Amino acid sequence: MSVRVALIVGSLREGSYSRAVALALKDLAAPGLELVPVEIGDLPLYNPDLETDQPPAPWRRFRAEVSATEAVLFVTPEYNRSIPGALKNALDVGSRPYGHSVWQGKPAAIVSVSPGVIGAFGANHHLRQPLVFLNMPVMQQPEAYVGNVEALLDDEGRLTNEGTRDFLKTFADAFADWIDKTRG
Ligand code: FNR
Repeated sequence: MSVRVALIVGSLREGSYSRAVALALKDLAAPGLELVPVEIGDLPLYNPDLETDQPPAPWRRFRAEVSATEAVLFVTPEYNRSIPGALKNALDVGSRPYGHSVWQGKPAAIVSVSPGVIGAFGANHHLRQPLVFLNMPVMQQPEAYVGNVEALLDDEGRLTNEGTRDFLKTFADAFADWIDKTRG
């Protein structure tokens, strides 16, 4: 039976390299791991005053989509050695109302992506901090820091580098095992 996994991209940019890597992962993942893109770009900034009996429609859409999955795969760039604000906002929106977090207990994995050489290490590890509080067991190994990403893509933005594709396949397979393990 296949496991539905929310695929959340931290970049809102149309030509996003992170999205290119996320789409490659979606193609590479074994049939048992169904990666379902969940968009974050339309979410109003989290404000508890909007948490009425009729919260903003994009919040409701987002919460319902994540709730319909069993695990979460984050693919994110690094902004100023941390995660983009849009991604932090999505974490906040999904975490409320108190006691109804859509993240609760869901296994997670992180792929960070950058044109730079450090592979967005800072974003990868900053993201781990809120995931502790959100009680999401995060896969520890293998770690995925995709650096020099522009050199790995073709002119259409497809991930063509064989070594990276092999690595991401290994990563996706390890995540499937991790989800199995955490579900007991
Ligand atoms: C960046 N970029 C960047 N890159 C990096 O490796 N470390 C960093 O700290 C930052 N900081 C940063 C801040 C802001 C505000 C922007 C807009 C960009 C560069 C970033 O990696 C690059 O723009 C990527 O292309 C962003 O990923 P996507 O949108 O291609 O997925």
